[in-house]
Amino acid sequence: MLFFLDSACIAEIEEAKALGILDGVTTNPSLLAKENIPQAAIYDHYKKICAIVDDNVSAEVISTDVTGMLQEAHALAAIDAKIVVKIPMTKSGLQVIHKLQADGIRTNCTLVFSAGQAILAAKAGASYISPFIGRLDDLSTDGSQLIQQLSIIFQKNYFNTQILAASIRHPMHIIQCAQQGVDVITCPLSVIKKMIHHPLTDSGLQTFLADYRAAFPQQAL
Ligand code: G3P
Repeated sequence: MLFFLDSACIAEIEEAKALGILDGVTTNPSLLAKENIPQAAIYDHYKKICAIVDDNVSAEVISTDVTGMLQEAHALAAIDAKIVVKIPMTKSGLQVIHKLQADGIRTNCTLVFSAGQAILAAKAGASYISPFIGRLDDLSTDGSQLIQQLSIIFQKNYFNTQILAASIRHPMHIIQCAQQGVDVITCPLSVIKKMIHHPLTDSGLQTFLADYRAAFPQQAL
């Protein structure tokens, strides 16, 4: 399972990279807006992100019509070969995904909330589809059930599209995705940090160090 960071924050991306677990980055217009950068600096910001990671930087189009999305997609893809263009799951979005596949540009179909949408995006030629599991959970719908359904459908139909589980809110989302054999997860740094800690690890380490210091008081650690 590949691990992407869902963030446009350079410091967070560098922190995740240093952990040795980072396979890519996903951004969206809301995450970008949090960075307080001028609009003219957005493409440079993507360049900075691409310089940190080895591959897979999702950058989303803002247009919603076919012509506008195609223009933006080509401009975004020209920034760096690591860019994957994020296209919303709409009727126009499907047309754009199909055209971009023919042009050799990788796409991430975003805002996927149902198996039907995922099937259409895969058929249109999306490289990735992003089901938003946390937002489904927010509406009292089991997001992990969608992931389970998609894993079966994509395996049985040999779709050449990767499932990229997004809108991840807590470590159990990631564990459930890993159990279901999801290709990629993208999550905030806060969730990765929660996965690192366990109270038994902390207390165990304290005990090991205290025992060592008691037995070998003269020896510096
Ligand atoms: O990048 C898309 C997705 O991960 C958004 O997550 O937490 O805003 O639902 P969230």
